[in-house]
Amino acid sequence: MIIKSVIDGVVARTAHPLGCKEAVRQQIEYAESSQQIVDGPMRVLIIGGSSGFGLASRIALTFGGSKADTISVSFEKGPSEKGVGTAGYYNNHYFKKFAEQAGRTAINIQGDAFSPETKAQVVEAIETYFEGEVDLIVYSLASGIRHDSGNVWRSVIKPIGEPVSGSTLVLENDQWQDSTLTPASAEEVDATVKVMGGEDWEAWIDALINSESIGSGCKTIAFSYIGPCATHPIYLEGTLGAAKADLHQTSHSLNLKLANFDGGAYATVCKALVTKASAYIPGFSPYIAALFKVMKEQGTHEGCIEQMQRLFTTKLYNVDHVPVDNERLIRIDNFELDPETQKEVTALLAQLNESNFMQLADYEGFKREFLNLNGFGFDNVDYTKKVDIDNYISKSL
Ligand code: NAI
Repeated sequence: MIIKSVIDGVVARTAHPLGCKEAVRQQIEYAESSQQIVDGPMRVLIIGGSSGFGLASRIALTFGGSKADTISVSFEKGPSEKGVGTAGYYNNHYFKKFAEQAGRTAINIQGDAFSPETKAQVVEAIETYFEGEVDLIVYSLASGIRHDSGNVWRSVIKPIGEPVSGSTLVLENDQWQDSTLTPASAEEVDATVKVMGGEDWEAWIDALINSESIGSGCKTIAFSYIGPCATHPIYLEGTLGAAKADLHQTSHSLNLKLANFDGGAYATVCKALVTKASAYIPGFSPYIAALFKVMKEQGTHEGCIEQMQRLFTTKLYNVDHVPVDNERLIRIDNFELDPETQKEVTALLAQLNESNFMQLADYEGFKREFLNLNGFGFDNVDYTKKVDIDNYISKSL
């Protein structure tokens, strides 16, 4: 079949296997040619390793100097009569191929990371492939829903207290769409914390401690976002910010637990980037398009792989101690929050409207990165060629 890009609002409905291969290949190329991770972890578990920061960390750790073997958990759909499947499915498939060609072990576990069954499956895989221990756990889930013991929680992206007006760049039709978000109820805040806060991260670390799967010096990281004042009403001061505050708190209790293994736990604050999750946040896309414009002009723009390679080579490894801020957070959002950068972004954002956002901001770059995430928009992939999708059925594990 010939696979075309189909976007529904800001959600991709199709993915191109060969474009996903190209996206993984390009990230590997970056990791191999960058400053290398020294004395990095050899046995890594990534929870949410099929796209975004999780995939980039997997690539950096395997190809960026550490030569890590990896187990990744993700929740992706393969091809079926219902559709071609998700980009993460093909990313898993091709990451495994490239890693195995390089002589590394790469295990893909498809399952619900929140469930005890998946945790037990991972413990078993650690026994089988890692001689029973891990050296690093990357927690990189972005989810809208959590099922647990018969309960269901849905995260919402809403402000807390006051309504917030913002605009979204609708990728389906390249339109600017204004909307006003009503404040979250107390139940919605709690549900978002349940899905995106630290509870499940802690459940993973507890499960791994109980099964004696934590190696000496083992570290764990989870990703967070703070951002500038422009995004605070919808992010930091909203439901997602509440969940991230919980995640930061959890990092402290996990740090105490991992101190028993000479290890540590850190929430890592990243830069705003286009991922499946962030394109979805109302009011966020004009900021990202403005940020990309300014950071590209300044030569400080980074994508997921650049962020992860920098994290491992300057913060988590290659250093005597892990540098943190006064809230014990690792900060790799420093280029984004640079005052000069923010001054220009704020000025640009103030000018943006529905008729000029394509000219003034980097909408083209924003859209291209979104297309790339789903395996589209690569010059060296022939999208007119038929893809034999049956080749990919059940092949990613
Ligand atoms: P993403 O959507 O690219 O990746 C999410 C991963 O979670 C995928 O591997 C997906 O399969 C997996 N996943 C989701 N639900 C699952 C489930 N129930 N079971 C197993 N796997 C599941 O997301 P992205 O953007 O890389 O986000 C990762 C983390 O980074 C999140 O905590 C996010 O808040 C944080 N972050 C994102 C930023 C951004 O601008 N994208 C900025 C700063 C932090």
